Amino acid sequence: MLSLGILAVFVGMASPAMAASAADWRSQSIYFMLTDRFARTDNSTTATCDANMGNYCGGSWQGIINHLDYIQGMGFTAIWITPITKQLNQSTSDGEAYHGYWQQDIYSINENYGTVEDLQALSSALHDRNMYLMVDVVTNHMGYAGSGDSVDYSVFNPFNSQDYFHPYCEITDYSNLAMVEQCWEGDTIVSLPDLNTESTEVQGIWNNWISGLVSNYSVDGLRIDSVLEVQKDFWTAGFTEAAGVYTIGEVDNGDESIVCPYQEVLDGFVNYPLYYPLLNAFKSTSGSISGLYNMINTLKDNCKDTTLMGTFAENHDVPRFGSSVPPPPTSIPLHIIPLTYIPFRATNDMSLAQNAAAFTIMSDGIPIIYAGQEQHYQGGNVPNNREAVWLSGYNTDSELYKLISQANAVRNQAIYRNSSYLTYKNYPIYQDDTTLAMRKGYDGTQTVTVLSNLGEGGSEYTLSLGNTGFNSGDSVTEIITCTSLTVDDNSNVPVPMASGAPRIIYPTSELEGSVLCRS
Ligand SMILES: *[C@@H]1O[C@H](CO)[C@@H](O)[C@H](O)[C@H]1NC(C)=O
Ligand SMILES: *[C@@H]1O[C@H](CO)[C@@H](O)[C@H](O)[C@H]1NC(C)=O
Ligand SMILES: *[C@@H]1O[C@H](CO)[C@@H](O)[C@H](O)[C@H]1NC(C)=O
Ligand SMILES: *[C@@H]1O[C@H](CO)[C@@H](O)[C@H](O)[C@H]1NC(C)=O
Repeated sequence: MLSLGILAVFVGMASPAMAASAADWRSQSIYFMLTDRFARTDNSTTATCDANMGNYCGGSWQGIINHLDYIQGMGFTAIWITPITKQLNQSTSDGEAYHGYWQQDIYSINENYGTVEDLQALSSALHDRNMYLMVDVVTNHMGYAGSGDSVDYSVFNPFNSQDYFHPYCEITDYSNLAMVEQCWEGDTIVSLPDLNTESTEVQGIWNNWISGLVSNYSVDGLRIDSVLEVQKDFWTAGFTEAAGVYTIGEVDNGDESIVCPYQEVLDGFVNYPLYYPLLNAFKSTSGSISGLYNMINTLKDNCKDTTLMGTFAENHDVPRFGSSVPPPPTSIPLHIIPLTYIPFRATNDMSLAQNAAAFTIMSDGIPIIYAGQEQHYQGGNVPNNREAVWLSGYNTDSELYKLISQANAVRNQAIYRNSSYLTYKNYPIYQDDTTLAMRKGYDGTQTVTVLSNLGEGGSEYTLSLGNTGFNSGDSVTEIITCTSLTVDDNSNVPVPMASGAPRIIYPTSELEGSVLCRS
């Protein structure tokens, strides 16, 4: 009788959140949005939003709740939202704080996005769907409208005196790690007062704050901003322990020898070392496949665990995949990217964009798709790459919405059939000038992903692919075209290639119970 009573109580409550560990996150697939730019409470698909203006456009936490079907319809199991804290309130010539990286009061929320109750409701709505909430947090700095030598520290809560901060100095050399950690980001219009994260008092405030944030909003994971700008031992001095959930850091550098060591202090990082070769492979029909092939192996050899990193082809700090702007140089952190670039060819080509998305989802690590990528948005540098998603009308028939749905679905199915899929390290099995094939998963539950940079104009041909782990006579299905294939007498899979589109091969018997390729 007692157990029935307890059951009745739980059924009536919002699902309780369990602290989600790194192992829990390995199986997730993340949809990342700027809260201000994804969806509005009024569900408008016409509300004006000129990303170039850099001001608030009216997106909200309630708007996200209203559009969870759209997100879940692509197979995502988690969302990452931009920082929730109260920001500087001025309209500056660098724009407004719509993105959330210019906080002034860490104990208050940004009311432009809604109320405390709205944020809690978003968390509950996600948990009701068995989805996770990841929140972006900034411990490196606060935000101030004015130059670094004119800061009125009394506007900050709780860091209301200069004593909490490093003395003002500009970061002028990003190859000097001590300077990057000690000096300030920002410019003379908006400075980013750099907290003295070596101070045990500052550490104590952050540790207390993060445990409150995680418990007040039942947060399942943290994306941590500006990790390169904070000394490594800050994270192990109580912060990650107080958080108690998976942490993924922004270490915005393409050099794996700089980035890999951060996995000793945080669970994972957003995978910039893989981002550059991914773009170089698929940004044009003459891209370098071998650079990507080699980096997959390099990261497995040099980093602690590739399956806990976040894989991406787009985010809010870099140009959209389809934009005419080239990726920032690997050696220069994004914070000091010059605003003008040499002209670069736009990638309107849908096949190339599909290959970049397929790679993101099918390689090791946690896929991160940036809101608007599924609509093939093409904005360039910040702030143009932060287009409002509502202006797409949330089109669920777009080519990339469908491709992302298929890739997430087969990944989710492979994990569901045998979770050891997740820790099996992706390895490249074939390359030629225009093709990369890679395998993930143990025999009988593996996915084999075949990528091409031939583009939409690519011809139709059959790629006879070995080293897949499949045996002669096996029945496999190509997921993108829903084509049934039989592995040939030489154990090769006859992969039907066309129009430069990606292909994903999976054992037909493993599709049982999945919505994929139902006849
Ligand atoms: C917005 O959409 C949600 C979900 O479909 C719906 O429940 C809500 O009533 C809509 N709100 C408005 C103002 O139309
Ligand atoms: C300033 O605060 C008001 C009231 O909270 C808000 O409506 C407005 O959007 C804020 N402006 C900026 C630029 O942050
Ligand atoms: C969490 O809630 C407590 C109790 O209302 C409050 O004192 C604390 O400031 C909150 N922390 C955060 C980070 O919201
Ligand atoms: C999952 O795959 C591993 C490795 O092949 C195997 O040892 C294990 O038995 C499989 N588990 C299930 C439930 O099939």
